[in-house]
Amino acid sequence: MGNHRMALIVLTLALCQFPQPGDAQLQQNYYANTCPNVENIVREVVTKKFKQTFVTVPAVLRLFFHDCFVNGCDASVIVASTADNTAEKDHPDNLSLAGDGFDTVIKAKAAVDAVSQCRNKVSCADILAIATRDVVALSGGPSYEVELGRLDGLSSTAASVTGNLPQPEFNLDQLTAMFGKNGLSQEDMIALSAAHTLGFSHCGKFAKRIYSFSQQSSVDPTLNQSYVVQLQSMCPKVVDSRIAIDMDPITPRTFDNQYYKNLQHGMGLFTSDQVLFTDPRSKPAVNFWAASPSAFQRAFVSAITKLGRVGVKTGSDGNIRQDCAIFN
Ligand code: HEM
Ligand SMILES: *[C@@H]1O[C@H](CO)[C@@H](O)[C@H](O)[C@H]1NC(C)=O
Ligand SMILES: *[C@@H]1O[C@H](CO)[C@@H](O)[C@H](O)[C@H]1NC(C)=O
Repeated sequence: MGNHRMALIVLTLALCQFPQPGDAQLQQNYYANTCPNVENIVREVVTKKFKQTFVTVPAVLRLFFHDCFVNGCDASVIVASTADNTAEKDHPDNLSLAGDGFDTVIKAKAAVDAVSQCRNKVSCADILAIATRDVVALSGGPSYEVELGRLDGLSSTAASVTGNLPQPEFNLDQLTAMFGKNGLSQEDMIALSAAHTLGFSHCGKFAKRIYSFSQQSSVDPTLNQSYVVQLQSMCPKVVDSRIAIDMDPITPRTFDNQYYKNLQHGMGLFTSDQVLFTDPRSKPAVNFWAASPSAFQRAFVSAITKLGRVGVKTGSDGNIRQDCAIFN
């Protein structure tokens, strides 16, 4: 091999090591000097909130996901709308994000800022990342070292939500493309989807699958028949739009691999869940993680760590918000 060709290969490899635009400079123990106790302070608030209401768990986890997929993990989802700006959280197809997620971050931020050394030193985005790790662990999932060093974003608009969140009707290619756009692999997507082992869905998100699926069949044939009966009784055709049901009917309050076992039995609530089992490209991962809780946990930790790196703000692209809901 010629020296030039060799040099070119070495150069190419070296360039690949450079951070890509938007790549995070995150690290564990980022606050070791500025607020060394931050993780304990946040954990205490999250634990207290968890004891008050279990909804804290799914609410925080979903908030983190939506924050990261819209404009990066920068707490832009927490910003409240003002007279002249409709924020992310008020997008009309607005995520139905549960208020307890926002409340958890606001309370944890207050607890952190009550320590004088820490005041205005820790970003809301990092507090959300720590709280997410804590709710997963509190509900029986794996714990992991959380990477920190995100700044809070300077913009939050409802318009930025459009087209950036996966929809429950998505097929595998659409899911893979949307996660790919955020630097996450299909495997990461399948692992992160297991978050639906917790939390609630409003009936309208899957009503089509049990009442008006297609011309040929009113019910989605990939759904388990006895599950359909259950869903139809909890979600009648005419239903209060506030009614929400457990997404994992077997262990709704445990962060476990039951999600994958449900898919094997035709009990994925959304098309985007069930397709992971019906599509032969993702089925092997579903079967593997249904059989191995420890392999699932490893994959989830890896995937949520990557999720936490999406679109991280540094330098002049962000700041430390004093009030998580209001720009400084
Ligand atoms: C793969 C594509 C995904 C789609 C299409 C999707 C869609 C949805 C929908 C439609 C709901 C129900 C919302 C409602 O009716 O209130 C929901 C709930 C939820 N999602 Fe996802 N999601 C996806 C991935 C994720 C990921 C990656 C996470 C987190 C890592 C996540 C976490 C949650 C949680 C925890 C809930 C329950 C929220 C609560 O109980 O308040 N989802 N999702
Ligand atoms: C969602 O958006 C609607 C308006 O589109 C608003 O009335 C509602 O308060 C929002 N919900 C949350 C949790 O922000
Ligand atoms: C449907 O669900 C029931 C109850 O979970 C289960 O026993 C049965 O095996 C499932 N059927 C199929 C086809 O997976």
